[in-house]
Amino acid sequence: MGFGYHGEMSKKPRTATFDGAPATGIINFGVGQPSEDLLPVGLLRRASADFMAHAQPLELNYGERQGDAGFRHVLADFLTRSYHQDVTADSLFVTGGNSQALDFICGQFAKPGDTVFIEEPSYFLAHQIFADHGLHTVGIPMDENGLIIEVLAEQLALHRPVFLYTIPTYHNPGGQTLSAGRREALTALSIEHDFLIVADEVYQLLHYFDPPPAALGTMTGKGNVLSMGSFSKIMAPGLRLGWIQTSNKLMKQLLETGVINSGGSLNHYTSHVMRHAIKLGLQDSWLQQLRETYRRRVEVMDAALRSKLSGVARWRRPGGGYFFWLEMDGETDTTALRDRAREFQTGFQPGALFSCAGQLHNCLRLSFAHYGEDEIIKGIERLGALMRQ
Ligand SMILES: Cc1ncc(COP(=O)(O)O)c(C=O)c1O
Repeated sequence: MGFGYHGEMSKKPRTATFDGAPATGIINFGVGQPSEDLLPVGLLRRASADFMAHAQPLELNYGERQGDAGFRHVLADFLTRSYHQDVTADSLFVTGGNSQALDFICGQFAKPGDTVFIEEPSYFLAHQIFADHGLHTVGIPMDENGLIIEVLAEQLALHRPVFLYTIPTYHNPGGQTLSAGRREALTALSIEHDFLIVADEVYQLLHYFDPPPAALGTMTGKGNVLSMGSFSKIMAPGLRLGWIQTSNKLMKQLLETGVINSGGSLNHYTSHVMRHAIKLGLQDSWLQQLRETYRRRVEVMDAALRSKLSGVARWRRPGGGYFFWLEMDGETDTTALRDRAREFQTGFQPGALFSCAGQLHNCLRLSFAHYGEDEIIKGIERLGALMRQ
């Protein structure tokens, strides 16, 4: 057992290991994963024990193809409370998290050589998923209110995309949120031009100041929407559990696949554990705690940046999610800068990583999810020293 999380029984918990974990002493804001104190072992122990105390043998059989009905009802109640809009169990399909869901949607709705639209910039690992499926990507630029609808409309006159992949709320990496008006325009365009909106709403519930506009998942009656949600950011990535919210018509297409027909629910066991976590009220209270912790981190990072990087970089304080997006003068090459960041015991993700057009060399992404307030202050001091060198 030299690997993985086994701090549970020892007095001093050891750090979980994962690919790309920063070496001791390095404060690497490139890591977009929660810090150890935000992985709720005790909470999940309670939920698991509650499930096992009441478990029926058939709950360990294959799960329903759409996902366990009991879990989907409890999840629908949780989303109804959190979105302040009605969500029904019938509109939910259980997934293994948003990465799996995105891969699954590509397999179901697209074939090699098809075109998909993607925001420029976008989540870098989504680029890889599209490449895995042989999809051709066209980037659509964004401003502070998200995807620019006028450019999308122009591109729709030139291409016939199978879908548009968007991260509408607290974007990765940009941090911005698609405005309510643009959400309406986007859904209308999806009907007019017959394309799917694949909305990655992984940060929708992580708002720290004002609540965001309604999730695209609640707009399935207005457009061709497949909304992906996940427990990775609101409970724990290791659960590998999420959902797709969609219309009856698109749900039928999701269900007609060999892997579902053969294996049933994509993550049946974990959905039972989360059913109990939600019913015990643990997800609601944990989400509240996450929002408070991350709000403080956003404020601390913003203040540290103002103190150390004013005049060197421009940024907007994000209203939620995990990331700050910094823009430097056009000459800066953040990919080269990252190579030197190690000397200063810090790190970040360079902007070019998020561009489908090989641009954004003068931008970088910082995550505040993996470090507490004191480390954030120390890490930004190091970043300031690097940038002012
Ligand atoms: C935009 C976006 N989508 C998907 C994921 C991964 O989601 P999951 O853990 O549910 O696979 C992340 C995690 O960083 C993300 O930022």
